[in-house]
Amino acid sequence: MQIKPWVSDAVEVKKSGMEGKGVYSVRDIKKGEVVGVFGGIVMPEEDIETLKKTVPAEKLNVDHAMYIYPGFIMLHDYINGCDPLCFVNHACTPSAHIENGIILLASRDIPAGEEISWDYRKTDNVGNWTYEFDCHCGTAGCTGKVQVGPQFRSKVPVASN
Ligand SMILES: C[S@@+](CC[C@H](N)C(=O)[O-])C[C@H]1O[C@@H](n2cnc3c(N)ncnc32)[C@H](O)[C@@H]1O
Ligand SMILES: [Zn+2]
Ligand SMILES: [Zn+2]
Repeated sequence: MQIKPWVSDAVEVKKSGMEGKGVYSVRDIKKGEVVGVFGGIVMPEEDIETLKKTVPAEKLNVDHAMYIYPGFIMLHDYINGCDPLCFVNHACTPSAHIENGIILLASRDIPAGEEISWDYRKTDNVGNWTYEFDCHCGTAGCTGKVQVGPQFRSKVPVASN
């Protein structure tokens, strides 16, 4: 299934202070305002492994994917290429969040010129898909690393007696 993305004219893509490109506000955005609706190609998470055998890694770009429901991933449109929402970075204390699987909303008032982010762990830590990267969000409470996947969810020590 393919979903066409929608992006508010309140945002633009430019070079990020965190990593690569990011999405920034071009005007003040009100708390609760919809910043975008994610689009892409929806599939059961295991289908990504099949695609990896035929689609070149730089085209598939699995970094540009998200869970929309446990077990179901939406991968960016790897046939036609990136859309602006591909470039929303993670922050540990983010300015936005996702509701209903694909709707990106401002979590607070966002002034013009700020990078828009959401906490990837709130959406992606629900399946077998695993990734880890050093976080450069620079927000208060940054945990230093972003870790998603089953092995990270089972890190809580279990008492032996
Ligand atoms: C959906 S992409 C975001 C756009 C990315 N910056 C780009 O230019 O393609 C997700 C990837 O961006 C990087 N990223 C996102 N948030 C980050 C952060 N807070 N610190 C460091 N890297 C980050 C990670 O490599 C992650 O796998
Ligand atoms: Zn993309
Ligand atoms: Zn962080």
